[in-house]
Amino acid sequence: MKTIVEKIDREQLDSGAVQTAGRILRQGGLVAFPTETVYGLGADALDEDAAKKIYAAKGRPSDNPLIVHIARMEDLPKIAARIPEAARRLADAFWPGPLTMVFEKTDAVPYGTTGGLDTVAVRMPGDEAARAVIAAGGGCIAAPSANISGRPSPTKAAHVKADMEGKADMILDGGDVPIGVESTILDMTGTPPVLLRPGAVTKEMLGAVIGEVAEDPTLARPDGALRPKAPGMKYRHYAPKAELFIVDGDPHKVIQKINALARQKRQEGGQAGILATDETASRYPEGIVKSVGPRRDEAVVASRLFAVLREFDEEKVDVIYSEAFGTDGIGRAVMNRLLKAAGYRRLQA
Ligand code: TXA
Ligand code: MG
Repeated sequence: MKTIVEKIDREQLDSGAVQTAGRILRQGGLVAFPTETVYGLGADALDEDAAKKIYAAKGRPSDNPLIVHIARMEDLPKIAARIPEAARRLADAFWPGPLTMVFEKTDAVPYGTTGGLDTVAVRMPGDEAARAVIAAGGGCIAAPSANISGRPSPTKAAHVKADMEGKADMILDGGDVPIGVESTILDMTGTPPVLLRPGAVTKEMLGAVIGEVAEDPTLARPDGALRPKAPGMKYRHYAPKAELFIVDGDPHKVIQKINALARQKRQEGGQAGILATDETASRYPEGIVKSVGPRRDEAVVASRLFAVLREFDEEKVDVIYSEAFGTDGIGRAVMNRLLKAAGYRRLQA
């Protein structure tokens, strides 16, 4: 397949590339487009055959449901059968934005979109260009992250091209995304609502609007022993090609431990990659050292994480050691993705 690649003109969202994208989507094709979290691979969510193409392009397991993206509140009742009052309040507070809510689905949503579930995940993205594409495509667009299944989510158009050229009908290049980790997922089908995936909208922010919010137990015990409620959360994800280990503990000891491990790797004839921060990068004398940004600003770390994981794939590294990150604010989302990328391999310094 020949993939059309076009830049988005953010000054003219009602014409050109966005119109072409809308036409492709309405005809059942695949269009990758930027959102404020990561790039998505879109298809008409109400067309089962179109949604199926997403699974084929990504190599995604068919039990892993897709998030349906909308651009207007009027489209929500078409796909969500019951919209609790708390969901309306959250939509007022955080939509458009990086929050996905899970509802009971209507018959309009095919099981091919929801991975066989009776529920549907819905999000209204904050990126205006994304909403223009969704509206042009008919209003309900299924869009998982636009990466090959298992690889880091794409935060730059180049990542999307690397994974989806020849597989999607069109790739819209909207530059680098601002947030860099996928949306927060909240299950609204029970009381209290349950946090399934941490993201830029934190549990505290949700709690401030609706009161009690529960958590999927696998978030606190992310070792694969429990089965997460968001089916996609059980797969190894975001993984760079080299094995990744997270080194946790007292910051000074973490540096010492990573240096010892990197030295050992060299003595064995290999080379280590080190995922560091601006504050610590100069303290690693060997290995391939990459900073994900300043530790004191975890939003920057979030925005760079997946790109740095992909960069390591371009380097000759046999193993990657990463510093650990925070457990609150967006740091929680960073650590959640990093743990998955590491297959939960964690070393104590
Ligand atoms: O930020 C985002 O959410 C990005 C952009 C493109 O919008 N999309 C995204 O989609 O991250 P994806 O497919 O990579 O991740 C969707 C996650 C998976 O873990 C999936 O299992 C979960 O959402 N999910 C989807 N529908 C669900 C449902 N009905 N119940 C529970 N989890 C669901
Ligand atoms: Mg994904």
